[in-house]
Amino acid sequence: MEAWLQQWLSLLLRWAHFITGIAWIGASFYFNWLENHLQRRAQSTQDASPAKADPIAGDPIAGDLWAVHDGGFYYLQKYRVAPQHLPEPLHWFKYEAYFTWVTGLALLIVVYYWDARLFMLDPSVSGISTAQAIALGVSAMLVSWLVYDGLCRSRLRRHTAWQGALIAAWFVLLAYVLSHYLSGRAAFIHVGAAMGTVMVANVFFVIIPAQKELVAALAGGRTPDASKGNDALLRSRHNNYFTLPVLFMMISSHYPATYSGVNNWLFLAVFSLSVVGIRHWFNVRHLPQHSKWVLPAAVLVMFCLMLASMPRQGTPSGVAGQAAGLTTAPTTLQIMPVITARCAGCHSGHPTVSGITTAPLAIAFDTADEVEAQAERIFQAAVVNRTMPLGNLTTMSDAEREQLAQWYAGLAKKTP
Ligand code: HEC
Repeated sequence: MEAWLQQWLSLLLRWAHFITGIAWIGASFYFNWLENHLQRRAQSTQDASPAKADPIAGDPIAGDLWAVHDGGFYYLQKYRVAPQHLPEPLHWFKYEAYFTWVTGLALLIVVYYWDARLFMLDPSVSGISTAQAIALGVSAMLVSWLVYDGLCRSRLRRHTAWQGALIAAWFVLLAYVLSHYLSGRAAFIHVGAAMGTVMVANVFFVIIPAQKELVAALAGGRTPDASKGNDALLRSRHNNYFTLPVLFMMISSHYPATYSGVNNWLFLAVFSLSVVGIRHWFNVRHLPQHSKWVLPAAVLVMFCLMLASMPRQGTPSGVAGQAAGLTTAPTTLQIMPVITARCAGCHSGHPTVSGITTAPLAIAFDTADEVEAQAERIFQAAVVNRTMPLGNLTTMSDAEREQLAQWYAGLAKKTP
């Protein structure tokens, strides 16, 4: 009953998180694109011919552009400051961000905190309790905002490059700390959640208030407070660079090769920097003198990371490959007791571990045939990445992993 509820909550929240996240980031990418593609007007140009019929035309226009989409032509203008009168209706973009955060937090609770023992902890990393792990995860979000906001408000404001470097350093430190206490996937998802929290808090505490100030100034016939606008611009630029790393961290939990290494925090840091490079390239590629090398460099770094995460045959626990040549490798029937004891509590048509009602990802190891058919996955999960058994709940020993490695090497020999 509980697992059934958890599955539905997880599905519905993930679905809502996806939809609101797409709406938020989609709109923010779109406005970023608009900004980069406006046909800028010279300072003196006052009129905009297609907008003559517009009652608020006549204000200085910063630029405009034409687009075709959904079977129609769209014409957009950006004002240099603001129109003369407050237009009605005026559309805001903020609920997408708030709902992305709310659904994300709920999803974190349902997926990670509900079964914290399975998803937050890894006894081979640290021996903290589930309560400590959850407290650490929640603090990561809160403290990240305080540190980031402090850096933005400090005197560093005038040195944006240094400020950017310190913000990046904070998140690398966070990844380092979390990866030394939480399971790899929990560490990754919490760095992502902390960055996402900063992004939403930027919208809530700085960007939207700045827009409100702009609108209030216009309604009151006064000049808006420029410092608020500048703060908002800086924060939305940071948000723009956070986007791609956050999206990577959100999907990383499905790819053990990313989070299961010993130096997973370093992998996360380097990968994130390379995707920030990709974002940067897209931000500046329309400029006449952009750094063309950033994109190939970022792709090269990613490729190196991919190679670095390649499983090394025979290394995981001693020298499985060679060992198999010396002793006779165990047969599938001989390793079945290990699989039954350590894996089939969850991976079975009838799981016995509480909280698991159906075989996770429909992966079941009830028969020798099923086990042999999935030998490669078993080897990867239990020997190479050691992400299974989940949270090592069934206390699999190194000797048992070694046995699986020998079995796998034996199979590989049989079927070249
Ligand atoms: C406590 C329950 C539990 C135990 C015990 C367990 N698993 Fe899993 N396993 C899971 C869950 C839950 C998932 C799905 C994780 C996800 O949603 O990404 C999973 C996913 C997998 C996957 C697919 C994802 C991947 O990492 O490739 C494989 C393969 C796997 N398990 C193999 C094993 C093996 C082999 C064992 C025994 C050594 C084992 N599992 C023991 C719960 C368990």
